Formats: sequence, C-alpha cells, structure tokens
Amino acid sequence: MNKENIIIFDTTLRDGEQSPGASMNTSEKIQIASQLERLGVDIIEAGFAAASPGDFDAIEKIAQRVTDSTVCSLARAIDSDIKAAGEAISKAAKQRIHTFIATSPIHMEHKLKMTADEVIKRAVRAVEYAREFTEDVEFSCEDAGRSDIGFMKEISDAVIEAGAGTINLPDTVGIRMPSEIATMISQMHAYIADRAIISVHNHNDLGLAVANSLEAILHGARQVECTINGLGERAGNAALEELVMAMKVRGDYFEAFKTTINTKEIYPTSRLIATITGIEPQPNKAIVGKNAFAHESGIHQDGMLKHKQTYEIFSPEEIGLDMEDTLVLGKHSGRAAFKSKLEKLGFTIEQEELNSAFERFKELADKKKEIYDDDIRALVTSEMGSVAKTYELIAMQLMDSTGGVPSAAVTIRHEGRETTDASIGEGTIDAVFKTIDRITGHNGRLLDYKVTSVTKGKDALANVTVKVTFNDSEPAMIGHGLSMDTMLASARAYIGALNSYLSMEGMLKIRNEDSAKTV
Ligand code: KIV
Ligand code: ZN
Repeated sequence: MNKENIIIFDTTLRDGEQSPGASMNTSEKIQIASQLERLGVDIIEAGFAAASPGDFDAIEKIAQRVTDSTVCSLARAIDSDIKAAGEAISKAAKQRIHTFIATSPIHMEHKLKMTADEVIKRAVRAVEYAREFTEDVEFSCEDAGRSDIGFMKEISDAVIEAGAGTINLPDTVGIRMPSEIATMISQMHAYIADRAIISVHNHNDLGLAVANSLEAILHGARQVECTINGLGERAGNAALEELVMAMKVRGDYFEAFKTTINTKEIYPTSRLIATITGIEPQPNKAIVGKNAFAHESGIHQDGMLKHKQTYEIFSPEEIGLDMEDTLVLGKHSGRAAFKSKLEKLGFTIEQEELNSAFERFKELADKKKEIYDDDIRALVTSEMGSVAKTYELIAMQLMDSTGGVPSAAVTIRHEGRETTDASIGEGTIDAVFKTIDRITGHNGRLLDYKVTSVTKGKDALANVTVKVTFNDSEPAMIGHGLSMDTMLASARAYIGALNSYLSMEGMLKIRNEDSAKTV
C-alpha cells in the first residue's frame, strides 16, 4: 500500500517559545533546530523574525545550519513582518514564510477592527509579497475554529490564487471537539481539493489538541503543526511525540499514513528541550513523562515480568529511552570519551565551548559520584551562551541567615576588572541579586524563579531558571544557571539574564545604526 506522508511541522521554537518561561537564546535554538532535523521533522518554524532582533538572528543562523528540514518564519500579514521573515530565511536550503490573519468574527471585529473584505485584501497582499521571497508560502486563518466556513472558503480561494501552497486552519483557542474538527476539515478538504495542502494547528485548552489533530488527518489534513513536550501558548499545542507515536503504535488504525520521524530521537529531543527551557513534562505525560514506563502496582509488575506486552504498548527503546539510566562517565574519563558522549547525545559544539564544558565536567566529576546523561545535557546547554559574557561571576560568599540578617558578598569580572561588593536582603537570594545589581549598576525585577534538580540524589545538580526585567518597557529576559549549589546556580542565572539583556540592547543599537545609514 502506498502510504501518504503526513508533514510534521514543528513549532517548538515559535509557539513553544510562547510558553511562559520558555524563552531560549540563539545557541540553544540552534542546538534544538539541529536536534529537530535529526528527529526528522519536515518543517521547523524557527521563530517570528519581526518579533525582536534576537528572533531574527536565531532564524538566520538556523537557516544557515539546517539543510534537510525546511526553515520557516512566522509573519503577520504586514509588509515589514514579511520582509523580516523573508530576509531571515533567505539562506536556508529549503525555506517557507508562514503568514496569518484572524478570520473569526470576534477577532476581526474586536482585535483587528477590520471588515471581512479588508481582511481578504490584507491576506492576498501578504501572500503575494511573501512570494517575492520564496515559493513556499503558508497562510493561516487564525482562530479558524471559530470562523465561518463560507468565509474561510472565500479567503482560501483568494490566497491560493495569490500563491499560498498550504492553508492552515488553527483551533487557536482550543475549543473544538474532535467531531467538529472532522466536519471542518472534511468540508475544507472537499472544497480546496488538491489546490493546496490542508494543515491543522490545535491548541490544548481542553486537552484535545492531539485527538483533534489525529481526527483532522483522518479527514484530509496532510500537515500537522505541533511541539515537543506539547509546549506552547497557554495550555500548549498538540505534542509531536504523542501524535507520532499514536500513528506508529496504532499503525493498523492509521494504515494509510506515514511520517518521516525517527522515533528513536523522540526521548533525546524531549530531554534537550526540558533541560534548555527548564520546563519538565508532567510526570504522567504520555510518551515522555518520567512515569510513562513506571509500573507501580504489584499486579502490573508481576504481569510485566511474565510478558512485557501485558502492560506496555510500546517499548521505551522505540523512543530512544535507555531504561538502564546508564552511568555515563566518571572522573577518569578523558576528553575523547566526553566528546564522543556529546556526539551520541546529539550535540555539535564549537571547540571553545567543548573545552569549557569539559572543564566543568571535570569539576563536577570531582564532587559528584554518579554522572548521568541528563547531567551532561545540562552541563553542555549551560555553556551555550551565544551572548557575550559581559559580566562574569567570579566568587560568592553568603552569611547564614538563621536568626540573623541574610547577606551576600559577590565578586564579578567586567571588562577585565574584578569588583567585590556586599549587600543584605530579605532572604539570601534577595541579598545575592541586590549585590549583583549594586556591582553592575542595573536594577533587575525578578518575575519568576524556578529550581529543578537535574537527576536524582542529594548531590544532584540544581538547574535554576529566572525571568527578570531590567527595563519595564522591554521584554523580560530568561537566564539559566547550573551548579550543585543552588545559590551559585541562582547567581549564574541572574547574571545570564543580564548578559542576554545587554546583548539584545547591543543588537538593537547596531540594527538602528544600520537602518539610519540606509535611509
Ligand atoms: O494558534 C494560532 O492560531 C497560531 C497561528 C499564528 C498559526 O499560532
Ligand atoms: Zn498557536
């Protein structure tokens, strides 16, 4: 039987990044894009080029690196967005622009304040302009789930005529039931036929994103938009791993379809993204949750011992999960073993990053008896500062807060000079962050603080994620810090966020100077 390919469009780096706290820096995005390519996704939505200079830069670099997957940028139906998207993807071997405008009455009336005719005109102009940059243009009817089907047919006719090859019908607010998605997709499929590929993009507000996407495939959709670990705006998007494994495990039910995904890369991809974003999948998350293969009850354990398939519908190996939780390296491991481990985990890093990651591995191996894959992932991703280390933490000393006033002394290097200062605070973290503010002259406002342990054990590494704003009129910055000492990890995370902020400011300055020159 000739199976039809279902195009896997991954939007972890765009919609996924819209998850609160999931911002990533450019090097992290490049590592993720390389891993998504290894996973075999057809299209990587690498970001929203017009959103910020950082987004543009990341898409441009991903476009230069990725060769097998198509690299896509999102753009509103606005010329300046489309220009930014077109320029950012221009070096990609395979490129796509994804432009969108809302088509539901509620969005057109209250958000866009535009008539249906105006919306069609804008959509057509957007697609025509996008075609000046690339032949591969996708158009989305934002809030399709609440749009009039007749209007979606009309706008689809117009944008297909203008050159769109894919029509995406997002359930933006995650309100639709599977049978309603089935009706919408069948009607649109019957109408559009082979004039364009129909795509779906389902949000998970009612926990139905995956079910709705699978239903859409059965009724004519040939592209599904999804994210790793189900990350995404609000309750997230359809989870790639769930969609792909549902189609694989139930190959009898989805026998007419296939994907290009190498399922053995699912678990490594999920871990990479959890480590970088600091957002762990819930323990009972299907496919990649920590408990997905844990058999707790005696009856289940007995069944498993007798025959695995009594309680296991697919093996952990199928998603690349090694249940032995192998000890990977020890303090006697050399640089070559370390490098080969990194390659196995899917990292491609520059010599300089390798050297400093190896140094930190050696330091860690001196203190921590057992080093696991997740430790290595965390160690390497914490070295991926694409941003300049404008400020660098050199030393830190804390006073015990028990019964006294918490205080911290911190030494920071900046432009070759070391400065030490101290401060008191309401708590130890407050004291540390205040001292960093005093030394650097920046005043950060902490919006979020999260600490997770990378592996099991009292000597586990702490992974701290902070969200800080250094200027209320600019986007908040995310910083990550890693250490066996939670306070040290916190200080590193805070300084990381500050360095990202300064690098963004620098980029903005360069861009403004450039555009002033071209006027
Ligand atoms: O949810 C949505 O509608 C989107 C569009 C931009 C495709 O993310
Ligand atoms: Zn979305």
